Amino acid sequence: MEVVIVQDAVAGGELVAETIAALLKRKPDALLGVATGSTPLPVYQALAAQVRASAVDASRARICQLDEYVGLPAGHPESYRSVVLREVVEPLGLTEESFMGPDGSAEDIAAACADYDRALAEAGGVDLQLLGIGTDGHIGFNEPCSSLASRTRIKTLTKQTREDNARFFDSPDEVPHHVVTQGIGTILDARHLVLLATGEAKAEAVALAVEGPLSALVPASALQMHPHATVVVDEAAASKL
Ligand code: GLP
Repeated sequence: MEVVIVQDAVAGGELVAETIAALLKRKPDALLGVATGSTPLPVYQALAAQVRASAVDASRARICQLDEYVGLPAGHPESYRSVVLREVVEPLGLTEESFMGPDGSAEDIAAACADYDRALAEAGGVDLQLLGIGTDGHIGFNEPCSSLASRTRIKTLTKQTREDNARFFDSPDEVPHHVVTQGIGTILDARHLVLLATGEAKAEAVALAVEGPLSALVPASALQMHPHATVVVDEAAASKL
């Protein structure tokens, strides 16, 4: 695992955007796994700026989603599908055609999750998966105690994660209790994992993930098993390393 410490969130965004741009130069139709939450937004902004400046051609890039809420109406502005379309797909000049995600509103959720894992494999696998980290060490929506071998499936959010994500909703009660998420095993299938963490609130989780023992109690520690994992942290998130 490579750990890169940058000064702040903007520098982190630029560094990760550079990594994605370099991949797109090598492989223009790369499958990019994207994460939601606030942390990766500077990455998407920096990458979109490179596209607008014609420094990188993202026109053949393919985008896939990490996780999704269960039970939000399709067009809800905070469904992760809406977020990824708004923050990543549209700014990069792509269309829904180049985007895939798990269906959180399917009648048969288990079948939809299995379909998604299959679709990722049939698309050739994820070339680069960008990850954030929850304050409890979760990746995607794999909460502590998730199996390190898990595949895409339905999960129940912890109280802490619902509270952390309440800021995106009008009231805390609106945060769904259930989600579908790529499993930790699914995430580990990606060729390159890039975890970005910024801010003091992530320092404890980052230290446990990077320097603690491999443990299902800290899902992000699974990156220790991956042959090509990069952890980009700003000075605040690195303060407990
Ligand atoms: C959610 C997402 C994760 C993300 C996490 C942290 O739980 N499912 O993919 O990493 O939030 O979000 P933030 O970057 O806003 O702290």
